[in-house]
Amino acid sequence: MKRPIYMDNAATSWPKPEETLTAMATYAQSVGANPGRSGHSMSVDAGRVIFDTREAAADLFGVINPLRLIFTKNATEALNIAILGLLKPGDHVITSGMEHNSVMRPLKAMEKRGVEVSVIPCSSSGEMNPDDVNRAIMTSTRAIYLTHASNVTGTIMPISEVGTIARDKEIIFCVDAAQTAGVIPINVEEMSVDLLAFTGHKSLFGPQGTGGLYIRDGLEGKISPLTMGGTGSSSESLEHPDFLPDKFESGTPNTIGIAGLGAGIQFIKRTGIEKIRKKEQELTAMLIEGIASIPGATLYGCRDEKRQTAVISFNIEGMSPAEVALALDEEFNIMSRPGLQCAPAAHHTTGTFPGGTVRLSPGYFLEKEDVEKCIVALEALAYRGKEPHS
Ligand SMILES: Cc1ncc(COP(=O)(O)O)c(C=O)c1O
Repeated sequence: MKRPIYMDNAATSWPKPEETLTAMATYAQSVGANPGRSGHSMSVDAGRVIFDTREAAADLFGVINPLRLIFTKNATEALNIAILGLLKPGDHVITSGMEHNSVMRPLKAMEKRGVEVSVIPCSSSGEMNPDDVNRAIMTSTRAIYLTHASNVTGTIMPISEVGTIARDKEIIFCVDAAQTAGVIPINVEEMSVDLLAFTGHKSLFGPQGTGGLYIRDGLEGKISPLTMGGTGSSSESLEHPDFLPDKFESGTPNTIGIAGLGAGIQFIKRTGIEKIRKKEQELTAMLIEGIASIPGATLYGCRDEKRQTAVISFNIEGMSPAEVALALDEEFNIMSRPGLQCAPAAHHTTGTFPGGTVRLSPGYFLEKEDVEKCIVALEALAYRGKEPHS
């Protein structure tokens, strides 16, 4: 079978680097024990795998103390801890009109429990003015939840500017780095980020079922865990531990996944995040230029590879997003994602609700020839879309 042209890296990256697969196989074959539980040498080795990945991830995000970084099963779980675990009735929070449902749905649930939510409108290309955040702040504002980049348009948000505002006003700043961790440099200290939610299976090149949350010093006491149970520590006590990372890591972890995540992060460090970003920018620029020149195609977002990640949303006249995605898959072996991409709020902003868009998200392992093939395929589909329907 011909290798697919995989343009759905914003959903999950594929293929994974060889070392991710090797690390997982090595873990399964040679380590395999429960980390931090039994005390025998295999268990200690499993614990070392977790420790090494924690150190690698902390280093990537500028986190000084790796123990402040907890592992979760994905960004969604990390965001739920940062929202459900933190907010109380009477709190006011600020978010943007470009958020994913993993922010919007927990916030909606908290709204029903007495939390007030202000959604800052963004421009139709998904850009947010930090001054609008300043204007929305009230005395009861407890936290700001902001995506680092939209999964619909790729638009990069002004994280550092909002971080400065939040720090100045002593408001907790939580960043959803699901679309940026591994491809855009992140430093929680320089960007004044208090909570950083990330996922392991996208640009960090880890497997599905991995992710995490960085928690700034002093905040762990203000956040309740969503799960409690065995941690391998303080086993004599019926009280759940209140220290990091154990407070938020109960139950046997996804050690094999964390082994793969560690290798994915090492791949990024070895390759260089700048090189990965540059390649993705080149592919993004090609797609933007190519799609913009197709009659009947409409592009959304800022259409500028420097101000966005490798996420391109568009529509083709005369065809629904699902029809385009199906034709790309069945006729051209190109994988895309049609519809609302779990971000209806963002589609309200871009004016593409409820139909949605077709999303292409090329990754580091794609080549220029793949993008050229994709543009030729879209030209053919746009031509077809213009034909009168019988
Ligand atoms: C912006 C954004 N936030 C959060 C998530 C949730 O990530 P996960 O599915 O790993 O929980 C995604 C996934 O698509 C996303 O794009």
